Amino acid sequence: MNIIRSVIKGCGSYLPEKILHNEELAKSVDTSDEWIVERTGIRQRHIAAEGEKTSDLAMRAAEKALLAAGLGIDDIDMIVLATATPDETFPATATAVQAGLGMYHGAAFDVQAVCSGFIYAMTVADNFIRCGQAKRIIVIGAETFSRILDWTDRATCVLFGDGAGAVILEAQEGKGDNTDRGILTTHLHSDGRHHDLLYVDGGPSSTKTVGHLRMRGREVFRHAVVNLAAVVHESLDKLGLEASDIDWIVPHQANRRIIEGTGRKLGLGTDKIIITVDRHANTSAASVPLALAAGVEDGRIKKGDLVLMEAMGGGFTWGACLARW
Ligand code: UT7
Repeated sequence: MNIIRSVIKGCGSYLPEKILHNEELAKSVDTSDEWIVERTGIRQRHIAAEGEKTSDLAMRAAEKALLAAGLGIDDIDMIVLATATPDETFPATATAVQAGLGMYHGAAFDVQAVCSGFIYAMTVADNFIRCGQAKRIIVIGAETFSRILDWTDRATCVLFGDGAGAVILEAQEGKGDNTDRGILTTHLHSDGRHHDLLYVDGGPSSTKTVGHLRMRGREVFRHAVVNLAAVVHESLDKLGLEASDIDWIVPHQANRRIIEGTGRKLGLGTDKIIITVDRHANTSAASVPLALAAGVEDGRIKKGDLVLMEAMGGGFTWGACLARW
C-alpha cells in the first residue's frame, strides 16, 4: 500500500559564538568543573549575545537546513518552531523566522513542550504532511535558556545552554513498511501532575513577569529514565522492531548519565548514541536537532539508518520519533 511519509531532506544547526566553560561558572557560583562533569557530562555551553534572540538562532539553523536540502524558502509551506523561550509572549517566534527568511505565504506557529518540544513539533509537522495539508515543512527547535536561568542557583544554572537546530520534512510516497524512508512512528505523552518538579516561576497571566527556571533535579532524573525507556519500547513495539535494529539514538541532551542509562536499558552502548551534552549542555527543544545535525555533519548518520529521537521535559512531557534517514 502506498502512503505518504515525511522524509527528512536536510538539517542544520546554529550555536551562539560565546562559549561558557565550567571553570568560568565556578567563579560566580559554588560549583566546580569536577562536580559538573561527573554528575552531568557537561563541559561547556553556548550563550546568546546581548540582543541575540531565539528567532535569530532559529533563522540561522533554518537557513542551513534549507541549504542542506537544496531547497529555497518558496518551496516551504509551513514553519513549526518549538521553543519555551520565545522572543516575546506573542506573536509566535515562528512568524519572526518566517519574515526573516522572506516567506510571505503559508503558516508559521510555535509549539511549547519545553525539552520535548522538538519531538512534539516533528509529530505535528508529520501529521500535517501525512494529511496532505503541507508538502514541505521546516521544523525548528530553538532556545535562549540563558535568559530564564537564575544565575545564583548552582543546581540549575550549570545545566543549560542556548542554540537552535532545524530539519526540512518533505512529503514522499512510501510502501507503508519499516523499510520506508521518513518518519515511521511518533509517540507523545504528558502528565501535568508533575508541574512543580520543573517549571518557570513567572508568566503573563500569573506573575506578569518572565520568571526563572526551577527544577527538583533528582526527581526529574528518576522520572526521565523510566519514561524515556517506556516510550522507546512503545515506538519499537508499534513497528515490530527490536532495540538492536536502531542505528542511532539521538536523545535529549540533559545529562550524560540519563543518556547512558537509557542506552543500557536498551542494550545499546555509547557507540550507537549521538552525545553532544558535553559541548552544548541542555538546550531544551534545540538539543535533539542540534545532536541530529552533529551526527549528520560528521558522517555518522547515513541514508537508510534507523534513527530514534527521544526527549523528556517540563510538564512533564515526553515522547519519541522513529525515522529512517
Ligand atoms: O531537560 C529536562 C529534563 N531535565 C533533566 O533531565 C535533569 C535531570 N536531573 C539531573 O540531571 C540531575 O539530577 C542533576 C544534574 C540536576 C543533579 O545531579 P544529582 O546527582 O541528582 O545531584 P543532587 O541534586 O542529588 O545533588 C547532590 C548534591 C547536593 O548536595 P547535598 O544535599 O548532597 O549536600 C547538591 O546541593 O550536589 C549539590 N549540588 C551541587 N554541587 C556542586 C547541586 N548542584 C551543584 C553544583 N555544584 N552545580
